[in-house]
Amino acid sequence: MPITEAFSESLQAYPIYTWTVLGVVVLGIVSFVLLSFISAPYGRHLRPGWGPTVNATILWGIMEAPSPVSFAVVYFMSDNAFKPVPLVLFGMYMFHYVYRSFIYPFRMRGGHKQKPLVTGLLALGFNAANGSTNAFAITVLAPHLLSTDWFTDPRFIIGVLVFVAGYLINQQSDAILLNLRKPGESDYKIPQGGFYRWLSSPNYFGEIVEWIGFALAAWTVPAWVFAWFTATNLVPRAFSNHRWYQEHFSDYPKTRRAIIPFVL
Ligand SMILES: NC(=O)c1ccc[n+]([C@@H]2O[C@H](COP(=O)([O-])OP(=O)(O)OC[C@H]3O[C@@H](n4cnc5c(N)ncnc54)[C@H](OP(=O)(O)O)[C@@H]3O)[C@@H](O)[C@H]2O)c1
Repeated sequence: MPITEAFSESLQAYPIYTWTVLGVVVLGIVSFVLLSFISAPYGRHLRPGWGPTVNATILWGIMEAPSPVSFAVVYFMSDNAFKPVPLVLFGMYMFHYVYRSFIYPFRMRGGHKQKPLVTGLLALGFNAANGSTNAFAITVLAPHLLSTDWFTDPRFIIGVLVFVAGYLINQQSDAILLNLRKPGESDYKIPQGGFYRWLSSPNYFGEIVEWIGFALAAWTVPAWVFAWFTATNLVPRAFSNHRWYQEHFSDYPKTRRAIIPFVL
């Protein structure tokens, strides 16, 4: 079916869902263009002029929690919630987001740092839209997920493997960063080991790989939109981080790339 026809059918049947997914697609384009010129003002790129700021640890939890919460609420509204394939996808999503929302913020060192409220509000809006549309698509709009035949489909098998690989790279890379500081420290060092041998931001690389894997395994429009949105946010930020390291450390390894090993 041509994409315009599919869009107008979806718009008639599920207007809120369709506009929300479209909104995330547009937000991804806007983010990519803006973030290619302006570094998102948090962490090492924090600077004045972005309105009121809030404690970074608290804001992380508040802005990420709507993702698992909205996903779970919409998911369990469906009669398909206890079907095997949707349950596995539910588990994958929750596995990432329960950690990211409720554990990761408390592992950050230097979490006494501030983060502009506006960045948290934008992330909160995205997370609520993303969690709810993904759960809706998995439980209501994806007949292929209702049969256990999907477990043997190459898209599902490869998707799960890619998701796990991305998750492990993201976790390992974040752990290396979080261990660079001793308690109480808030300065920056050159990370070493793991995928830092090749990249300045392997945590972002892992995150993008992870959500591409999820999109393959779920094979729904919002899952692909999520992978797209993650890349539109994290690729420009990886370049900002890469430039920042090169400007701040004269001994920064010359062979490291920003976001794709040996390429980019
Ligand atoms: N799906 C998405 O769209 C999305 C969007 C954003 C983030 N994320 C994920 O969320 C996680 C965190 O993202 P982030 O942008 O906050 O990552 P980040 O800038 O790499 O920072 C992660 C943590 O490590 C610290 N850190 C970073 N570089 C350091 C260095 N060289 N020396 C010492 N400490 C260092 C940071 O401290 P400071 O805070 O003091 O800089 C922060 O606590 C990542 O896994 C990322 O993939 C996902």
